[in-house]
Amino acid sequence: MMGRVLGQLALLAEVWALKAFGREWLHYITSNTMNAVTTRLAPFFWTYECQARVIGVRHETHDAITIELLPNQHFSQARAGQYIELEVVINGQVHSRCYSLSRLGRHGVAITVKRKQGGLVSSWLFDHARRGMVFSVSRPQGSFVYQGQQKLLMISAGSGITPCYALANEILAEAPSADVAMIAQFKTDADVIFSSGLQRLAQLCRVEIALSQSAGTVKQDVIACLEQSPELLGRDIYLCGPAGFMDKVVGYLTSKNYNLARLQVERFNFDGYALAGEQSLSEIYFQAHNATVHMTEADRGKTLLEIAEAHGIELEHGCRAGMCGSCKCHLVHGEVSGNQLGIAVYPCTAYPASTKLVIG
Ligand code: FES
Repeated sequence: MMGRVLGQLALLAEVWALKAFGREWLHYITSNTMNAVTTRLAPFFWTYECQARVIGVRHETHDAITIELLPNQHFSQARAGQYIELEVVINGQVHSRCYSLSRLGRHGVAITVKRKQGGLVSSWLFDHARRGMVFSVSRPQGSFVYQGQQKLLMISAGSGITPCYALANEILAEAPSADVAMIAQFKTDADVIFSSGLQRLAQLCRVEIALSQSAGTVKQDVIACLEQSPELLGRDIYLCGPAGFMDKVVGYLTSKNYNLARLQVERFNFDGYALAGEQSLSEIYFQAHNATVHMTEADRGKTLLEIAEAHGIELEHGCRAGMCGSCKCHLVHGEVSGNQLGIAVYPCTAYPASTKLVIG
């Protein structure tokens, strides 16, 4: 009991300190007073690690929760559409996963976690995340952010709604002249994440919900919504969801001659790609670096990222596993195998597949 009261007081003090001093000042103060006493007394602030305390947990659906987080002074300003990597210790082992931010406030952020079948971390968080817990987190990352377009369409499925929801809220609050539309696909009514938030957004912009496992008059998928409203393809599209869903939407957009340069994508649930078949030695031009690589025998079997690095070209990257999207480039000419979505190529998990290749 006493411990709980002390915990609540510590939490209130942390919220107060962040509001009163701001992250920059706290950083200054703590880094100049770091010692054995302060690190024991208030380890949440007197640490060199970026951490976040859980300040609330809310059930969104039967298998999705929103976790409100108060990050310490090492966190940096987040943008809607970005994600954080969160570390969880389960049975003594550290596991890390990326989660999109579903809400951004002045002092705190939120992630929304959907329990995946067989998903170790998502299930653990769903069952165990409680107010007061502290997790190690990364600073916000990712480029799935608003780029100033005037007419946008957010397309999502399942938990892919998370960055789209944050983006729509941010854009409608900060760029009211922007024309936003959303199509979100879920299995059934009971699976709709942010149900009341979407109802509120529907008063400000066009929101369509497709239910893939519902009978009756409800549209069953995003494609059906797009077929009925082809004018929506005149917009810049932000797309997020499971890999199969995204491939299907990109296939549909391609069949409609949609300009894929206007498509922004975000995916985390990537299952990996191995190199298939014999690989030819390519000439690869990395446009952004104005550098050409002539592959040698030593480059065979390597990813585009590894090839670039072996030749002294530093491509931006994060996870090196096809999950974070930070290495995303565009295929300008030639073919790749592996991790590709429309003209978006992820060099960390994509391989050259033609003799000449231009990566933008
Ligand atoms: S997707 Fe993360 S580095 Fe390529």
